Amino acid sequence: MQITEKVFGETPEGETIFEYILENGQLKLKIINYGAILVELHTPDRNGKLEDIILGFDSLDGYINDDTYQGATIGRFANRIKDGCFKIDDKEYKLAQNDGENHLHGGIKAFNKVIWKAEKIEKEDSIGLELSYFSKDGEENYPGNLKSTVIYLIQDNTLNIYFKAFTDKTTPVNMSHHSYFNLNSAKNGNILDHKIKINANQYLPVNKNLIPTGAIKSVQDTAMDFTELTRIRKQIKNMSGGYDHNWVLNKNNCELRLAAEVVATKSGRKMELSTTKPGLQFYSGNFLDGTMTGKYNIQYNKHQGLCLEPQFFPDSPNHPEFPFSFLRPNEIYEHSIRYRFSTI
Ligand code: GLA
Repeated sequence: MQITEKVFGETPEGETIFEYILENGQLKLKIINYGAILVELHTPDRNGKLEDIILGFDSLDGYINDDTYQGATIGRFANRIKDGCFKIDDKEYKLAQNDGENHLHGGIKAFNKVIWKAEKIEKEDSIGLELSYFSKDGEENYPGNLKSTVIYLIQDNTLNIYFKAFTDKTTPVNMSHHSYFNLNSAKNGNILDHKIKINANQYLPVNKNLIPTGAIKSVQDTAMDFTELTRIRKQIKNMSGGYDHNWVLNKNNCELRLAAEVVATKSGRKMELSTTKPGLQFYSGNFLDGTMTGKYNIQYNKHQGLCLEPQFFPDSPNHPEFPFSFLRPNEIYEHSIRYRFSTI
């Protein structure tokens, strides 16, 4: 097990950004302290060959100019808030509308565009990186000074990501991870032949701007039914544009439980994702349009990668019926995600 630290690049403001390479013989990761971004994730295929299974960029410029949230830590509030508005105790807050009329993924200079402080973690059975960021009261118009932490930890064939936050004023917090996975590696085509299972009997219907209507519907007899391992290609043709929806995960008791499985028969890679949060956004890379070139000089076309973002439901601050509460002073926001990599 080892952690190697190197210079990754320099921001236009002259700040040096570092990369941290974590290796344990089974997994190899590269994380940068810009955006607490996961830049590379290498896992073995069925023949033991390590390949990078996430999309991203070779250079810091790629991440600075990126508007697709490659590998990013998303916050303060992942996903959408309708019209960028919410109320806390009758006081109205107005956030940036950076996705049409909506607020998306924390705003303009959100957690994926700031510099984090990194500290290495070396334990007997695991290694990792702890990244911390102090988001000031009023940043992106969110209330409260927020101390936020992201920990990446690898142990054997699992990658754990822990999020933690403390505030001094009541504020909405919803932190998640936004890697685009392609278990065959992006150089070998798109994700349409990946099979996916989502442990959810229900999903959230959305309006044309992808804001939940408030209804919770059964997945049965719809293209949203992934209760059995299903090839994405089979059902996506019934979804105009593709998937960009939130599933209501079963067994919602804040404990870490299996939310989804993804299998790529070509490489034999399997990924199991667990989370402590109630929702899972499955986004099938619909907005990748071939105009972006990523790592290894690969052009990113529609469906080149898929995102599985565990979180509170989108627009939760405006839906008292959803399982969500604002983070209040003296409380801790916590979210654990576990990815387990194996082969079939
Ligand atoms: C999330 C959203 C998508 C899109 C991507 C980033 O997955 O749900 O609509 O905004 O982020 O491109």
